[in-house]
Amino acid sequence: MSTYTVTDPRKVTTKRVQTMKQQGEKIAMITSYDYTMASLVDQAGIDMVLVGDSASNVMQGNATTIPITIDDMIVYGRTVVRAVKRAMVLVDMPFGTYQGDPMEAQRNAVRIMQETGADGVKLEGGQLMCQAIKMIMRAGIPVCGHLGLTPQSINQFGSFVTRATEDAEAQQLIEDAKALEAAGCFAVVLEKIPAALATRVTKMLHVPTIGIGAGAGTDGQVLVAHDMLGLNMSFKPKFLRIYNNLGEQIIDSVGNYINDVKNSDFPNENEQY
Ligand code: KIV
Repeated sequence: MSTYTVTDPRKVTTKRVQTMKQQGEKIAMITSYDYTMASLVDQAGIDMVLVGDSASNVMQGNATTIPITIDDMIVYGRTVVRAVKRAMVLVDMPFGTYQGDPMEAQRNAVRIMQETGADGVKLEGGQLMCQAIKMIMRAGIPVCGHLGLTPQSINQFGSFVTRATEDAEAQQLIEDAKALEAAGCFAVVLEKIPAALATRVTKMLHVPTIGIGAGAGTDGQVLVAHDMLGLNMSFKPKFLRIYNNLGEQIIDSVGNYINDVKNSDFPNENEQY
C-alpha cells in the first residue's frame, strides 16, 4: 500500500543508521505519539519514529514544549512502541529531566527505556549536556543530540527564528556538534539553522545528522507528522512540505456524518441488525 518499498525489513538500529550515513542513504524520521499513527508510519516504511515532546503542542495544545512531563512522554512512548515493528523508536527527554544532575538524567532515561521499551532517547543541548549524555550512555542507552532551535530553550531565545545565522552562534554550534559526537551521541538533530551550516556540520561528523528546517545537506530529515499531513492547519513554516490535507478531510467527513445523522440518513437498513 505504501508508495515506498522497504529494501531491508530488519529492525532499524543505531548501527544501521550509521551505515546509512556511510552509504549515502538518507534517513527518514517522523513523529508519532499514539498507536494508530505509529502503526501507519511504520507500515509506510519510515526508518525512525520520534516520540517528540512536540506532543506538548500537537497532542496537548500547549504553546511550548515546556509543560509536558516525563509521565506524559512515557504514556505516548509506550503506545508508539507497541505499534512499531521495524522503525527505531526514540523518546524525547522532556524539559527539566536531564539538564541538572547527570545521575538524575540517567535515572530518568532508564525510566523512559524501562517503561516504554523505546530504542533510545533524544535530548537538547550541546557541550553543557555532555556529562548527562555520558552518564545515560553508561547505562547502555543510545542518545540522539539536538542542536539549533531547541524548543525547550524558547524562553531564552525569545522567538522561534532561525538559529546560528551569526558567526559566533554558528561556531558554538560546530563546537557543540563535535562535543556531542565525542560524548557518544549516535545521531544529532539539527533544527532550523542555515542549510550551509547544517551541511558543514554533516560533513564534519561521523554520526548522522537529521535536519528539520536545515536544508538538504543533512543525512536525514524529520518532520512532525501532524504538520506534514495537514492536521495542524495553522502551522505553515517555510521549511515544511505538506503532503496531505487530512485536517480539511476530517472536518469534511465529520460534517457529512453530522448531516447524515441530522437527516436520518445514517444508519440505513444495511447498517443495522
Ligand atoms: O519534539 C519534536 O517533534 C522534535 C522534532 C521537531 C525534531 O524534537
